[in-house]
Amino acid sequence: MDVTEKRMNKKERAKDRREKRHEEIRRLRTVPYFDHQRWWSAETIAVVTGGNRGIGFEITRQLALHGLTVILTSRDTIAGEEATKTLLEEGLKVVFRQLDIVDHQSIELFCAWVKEKYGGIDILVNNAGVSHNTGSDNSVECAEQVINTNYFGTKNMTKAVVPLMRSSAEGARIIMVSSRLGRLNGRRNRIDDVDLRQQLEDVESLSEDLIDSTMNKFLGQVKDGSWINGGWPQNNTDYSLSKLAVNAYTRLMARTLSAWPDGHKIYVNCCCPGWVKTAMTAWAGHTSPEEAADTPVWLALLSGQCVSGKFFAERREINY
Ligand SMILES: NC(=O)c1ccc[n+]([C@@H]2O[C@H](COP(=O)([O-])OP(=O)(O)OC[C@H]3O[C@@H](n4cnc5c(N)ncnc54)[C@H](OP(=O)(O)O)[C@@H]3O)[C@@H](O)[C@H]2O)c1
Repeated sequence: MDVTEKRMNKKERAKDRREKRHEEIRRLRTVPYFDHQRWWSAETIAVVTGGNRGIGFEITRQLALHGLTVILTSRDTIAGEEATKTLLEEGLKVVFRQLDIVDHQSIELFCAWVKEKYGGIDILVNNAGVSHNTGSDNSVECAEQVINTNYFGTKNMTKAVVPLMRSSAEGARIIMVSSRLGRLNGRRNRIDDVDLRQQLEDVESLSEDLIDSTMNKFLGQVKDGSWINGGWPQNNTDYSLSKLAVNAYTRLMARTLSAWPDGHKIYVNCCCPGWVKTAMTAWAGHTSPEEAADTPVWLALLSGQCVSGKFFAERREINY
């Protein structure tokens, strides 16, 4: 068997495994939650960032279908109102609020509004994100926007919302919609510097400073044109790094919040939705937005489990 044939076989086997898992998820999604698993009600407040389209829109819809009150947020008011109208016409309990996660004032106004109207939040789904490359393109022209939105915006939103998270026996939840491209130890797409990888992997010594300075070092090299020899991930570099930072921040937050007492717990996990047919991928991919929303929704609704600081795909834990 030559190399090309071997590669084809590997691809076919991967496709086969993926299709089987998708089939299994479709079946799991038909299994209703039992009453004792339904810790939520119509008074449970979930917030989804970037809810006007793509995966975020589907996460909003699925959470609302389970009977929660979902705040669909969007940086663009018209797009957000239109998306909300669609879900209201389906009889779902969805409320629109403007939110741009790279705008500090927008985050502040959102938090003040949510506190005044609902008193707090039970679930935050950090879904908003950008990517400016499709296929094998690897331009870093928009690297600043990508890192600022996917990592710094997500981090700032999380920090602002944590004090608003309501205490409950089941715990509040934060879900980061991340990506396998941000894996620390991906075989074909990773940071070259072994020491830096180890520092980012060691959750005990991991710090916000380390994550921020790694992102700023990359952005500095983008500015002075030296990034190509910087030993950064080779595939979709800015986006991969932004999601690597999100994954590291998930583990850091989980570690910090694990010290909170029972009854006040906040569980933080991240997930990869797969390669999804949305505007971000120019509608290329293996997965529909509806299927992609499944794992974040499942994580948001987990009952009786104190899972935190983990990375998931297709309802299974995966390695960072
Ligand atoms: N599609 C994939 O294959 C894939 C794979 C792995 C991970 N993901 C992740 O999944 C999430 C959703 O992506 P998608 O595929 O559904 O892409 P999408 O259709 O492009 O949706 C992205 C959403 O994020 C919003 N957004 C961007 N910047 C924002 C900001 N500053 N403030 C608030 N909202 C902002 C967008 O708003 P506008 O409509 O105003 O632009 C849009 O609602 C992203 O985090 C993405 O990185 C996607």
